[in-house]
Amino acid sequence: MADAAIQHKSFFSNKVEHFTESVIREMTRQALLHGAVNLSQGFPDFSAPEEIKRAAQDAVARDVNQYAITWGAKNLRNAIARQMQQWQGVPVDPETELTVCCGSTEAMISTLLAVCNVGDEVVVFEPFYENYGPDSILSGAKPRFVKLRPPATPESEWTFDEGDLRAVFHNQTKAIIINTPNNPTGKVFTREELELIRDLCVEFNVLAITDEIYERILYDGTRHISMASLEGMKERTVTINSLSKTYSVTGWRVGWTIAPPAITNAIRKVHDFLTVGAPAPLQEAGAAALALPPSYYQNLADSYRRRRDRLVPVLTEVGFRCYQPRGAYYVMTDISEFGYSDDLAFTKYLVQEIGVAAVPGSSFYRDPRDGAQQVRFAFCKKDETLDAASEKLRKLRRR
Ligand SMILES: Cc1ncc(COP(=O)(O)O)c(C=O)c1O
Repeated sequence: MADAAIQHKSFFSNKVEHFTESVIREMTRQALLHGAVNLSQGFPDFSAPEEIKRAAQDAVARDVNQYAITWGAKNLRNAIARQMQQWQGVPVDPETELTVCCGSTEAMISTLLAVCNVGDEVVVFEPFYENYGPDSILSGAKPRFVKLRPPATPESEWTFDEGDLRAVFHNQTKAIIINTPNNPTGKVFTREELELIRDLCVEFNVLAITDEIYERILYDGTRHISMASLEGMKERTVTINSLSKTYSVTGWRVGWTIAPPAITNAIRKVHDFLTVGAPAPLQEAGAAALALPPSYYQNLADSYRRRRDRLVPVLTEVGFRCYQPRGAYYVMTDISEFGYSDDLAFTKYLVQEIGVAAVPGSSFYRDPRDGAQQVRFAFCKKDETLDAASEKLRKLRRR
């Protein structure tokens, strides 16, 4: 057996040896196994809007069942371009600057494969959405991490040190990945912070790759600012977005990139060979989704604020220190009150004994010790789900 294992090892690429399976998706499996309430993975457990479900059904009935144009159905690209102009004031040519992909997950890896060479470096803020590290490695680049520091007081925000950021920029830096609103912290980058990043990108000739999939989920009067809307950035930004979070359809797998024509050309080539295209009928439904009225987005943000305000006080009451999210639908917490040596032991106890699945903080950091006293909860769930989780969480005891 041992010999067989050794022989098989030679079949593996060096790349996959550098990263582990997704912890977040593993937590969902654990939740199913133990019958726990799943507050780990960021998918809604409520319905998507009726209009867009009907649009998907109509598209299938109309026989939109064959490959769409590889870089995206014209309808959807036009709708995305129109929305980007109206929402962020960024003009987009749907013919030359847009690529529809299989979710923002594919959009990110296609972008990195299109722009990175071996030896390039990609700057990533940590804690980070867990795909960015493996994405960089798959594309041959080396991730360089910059810390987002947790708020010291309830009124302050996660932020980074300008000196730390400047220190990782140099000749080898190809790109910086920015995720705003941010998973897992709920941070919404301010204009000042984005301008600081912009200045470094211009000084070092670096590309900004911005994951803006939570752009509509904002609280407490925060505003989303697209990096591409900043002066001097449209020509060096790849904006990544998707239907997943804004329209509660994470399983549809429709996302996109907006980038200058030359970069779009490169992304389209990678995208074509990776996936050929995103699901054709769901692209049609995506065009219908992007035509929803402004009230849809206001209701979406309001409903998530109510969910945040339902869960966070319970977490605080039972002993978590919560870092109040200003956007996206996660709350990062500090677990030191519970006296566990690490987050893995705590989340195991939480899923097996308490009956709630959450994501261990270490999965968001390069050095697991940095997240050893943190755990993330997702609140993109029905009231009943949040209430069921709250009831179970009340059994928790501080040590
Ligand atoms: C920051 C971030 N980017 C990308 C994704 C994946 O999105 P998609 O479903 O569009 O691939 C997620 C999902 O949780 C996320 O949190």
